[in-house]
Amino acid sequence: MALVDEVKSRSDIVQVISDYVDLDTSSRQPKALCPFHSERSPSFVIYPETGSWRCFGSCAEGGDVISFMMKQENMSFVEALEQLANRAGIKVEDRKNEPRKKPVTGLIEANDIAADYFLSRLKAPVGENTLEYLADRGIDIETAARRGLGLAPSGMETLSGHLRTRNVQARTARDAGLITRKEDGAWRDMFTGRLTIEIRDARDRIIGFGARTLDGSEPKYLNTPQTDAFDKSSILYGLNWAAESIRASNEAVVVEGYMDVIAAHEHGFTNVVASMGTAVTGMQLDLLSRHATAGGTGTIILCLDSDAAGEAATMRALEGVTAELSTGRRRGIEVKVARPDGGKDPDEAIRSNPDSWRSSLSEAEPLLDYLIVAKSKLYNLESGQGIADFANGVAPLIYNITNDYDQDRYWSTTAKLVGVSETRLKSIVDKPRAIGRSGSRRNNSYGRGKKSQFLDSGRISSDQVSEVLSSSAGDPLEEHLLSLVLQREDLREHAVAMPPEFMHESDNRALFTAWQSSSRLGEISHELGDDLTEKAHRLAERELPPSDQARHVEDVRQCVMRLRERHFKRIKKLQTERLKELDGEEAQELLDQSLLSNENLRKVMTGRA
Ligand code: UTP
Ligand code: MN
Repeated sequence: MALVDEVKSRSDIVQVISDYVDLDTSSRQPKALCPFHSERSPSFVIYPETGSWRCFGSCAEGGDVISFMMKQENMSFVEALEQLANRAGIKVEDRKNEPRKKPVTGLIEANDIAADYFLSRLKAPVGENTLEYLADRGIDIETAARRGLGLAPSGMETLSGHLRTRNVQARTARDAGLITRKEDGAWRDMFTGRLTIEIRDARDRIIGFGARTLDGSEPKYLNTPQTDAFDKSSILYGLNWAAESIRASNEAVVVEGYMDVIAAHEHGFTNVVASMGTAVTGMQLDLLSRHATAGGTGTIILCLDSDAAGEAATMRALEGVTAELSTGRRRGIEVKVARPDGGKDPDEAIRSNPDSWRSSLSEAEPLLDYLIVAKSKLYNLESGQGIADFANGVAPLIYNITNDYDQDRYWSTTAKLVGVSETRLKSIVDKPRAIGRSGSRRNNSYGRGKKSQFLDSGRISSDQVSEVLSSSAGDPLEEHLLSLVLQREDLREHAVAMPPEFMHESDNRALFTAWQSSSRLGEISHELGDDLTEKAHRLAERELPPSDQARHVEDVRQCVMRLRERHFKRIKKLQTERLKELDGEEAQELLDQSLLSNENLRKVMTGRA
């Protein structure tokens, strides 16, 4: 958990504030005379449930425990954070040794040079055989260049030699996964005698390579190892080409292989990406949902290899996907399964009959429908034990569905499948253990390099489910705005004037305030401290959908507008609740005060800023 989140969840806001002010704790929301301005009746209210406070008097401020500390003690964000961490018994020192993401620009530059080199080898006389091989697969030299293919030669000529002539340091090349040190201490190319495939992220940066054997040797593909720029579990091959189309159609198709993606795009299937041979991970789902739900809802079609479709491993991976789907941030995404027939992989299928591939996509069925039937084949439904095992295998998936109508539908499907009544079926299965569905925003493990645990580990335990349920991301709107402005200096003018209090999470607010003073992360990092600097880097490296300037400007404006609207609505709501509790004179005072934000609210709602 990020330090900020840990501090917020482990600090008792009522306790902390009561160190400074005399609280009246007779009602559910403790109140006091506001410590930040002088007043006669108490208009400073604490909301223990949300860990926040607000003054309804003339200072009209509010925030969480960290922003209270900042204001009360006149501290910077980092100081307040450390003080509260100490108070809560969290050891800040221990956490400083956690690995931190480094800037990756150097690695990407080295990859760019390598990609040019690989393509030049493909075009050179050494590339003749490889070009023939590609031609057999329907790929000519123009296509190869367009799709980032190349050749890592095997002879005397090496990439490491080339990188030296281009002044790339061995350390950088090693960190990029391009070269590796052998036992004899000499540097060797990572890829030799292989067809190379550039792997780009959604921002079109070359973050790694796949390299296919041409002589049948094993493994078939070597890939860039885990580097600071390349994390196989969180990227999707082909997203650089597919992002626009996915956004436009609200649909993404996931296949397994590099060559499948290339064939798909060459044949006009422009929304296709690859999970690169593994089951789709939670992080990949996040990435896709962000693109596919531009219009609110979207579909992800998983294209299963016919031979893998019935395997238990595939099934477990898909169960992982269903569990991941029930987290809040992925609502609005429907996952379907397509099984193009003929035993061919998409590359062959598309090249031999694109229309039949297209129709297999349109016949894709909802993930759970597929899963229930496929799972039923793993059990002996002739025996009572088989039925019980099967029923208990699917029950957690069904209980996980948030929509009652769908739940009923799946109970009924399952009951029919095993040939018992629904009542009987439900009496066979173990009841789910209570796991809060709402989840808390305070536990954000996403983005800290943690991989989804489901997909490797066979069974989903209820701990894992509840972990996923509670790990939804921080405030997405605030974070989206921050990642936009941290990445693109040209968007500055469209957000710089926004009042920081429109951000309600104190870490985001502190980041935003620091950014207002300077957008150079290096310059502001001393104010931010390690934890926030890390968050800033993470947001600055988050993929944005490739898009033109006009759209980004519009995106920023929308964010600012929605944050503003949300801010005033929240205050309004709290005020209304508060009014109900007050007597005549106090109510009048609050009303006088609220004229201000009512007026503001009206402006927001009528669109006149
Ligand atoms: P495939 O074996 O289906 O590869 O593995 P492919 O892309 O269809 O390749 P061709 O058609 O035989 O040339 C699917 C994906 O799994 C990953 C790669 O991303 C590959 O594209 N993979 C496969 C590896 O990373 N390593 C391997 O050894 C094999
Ligand atoms: Mn293939």
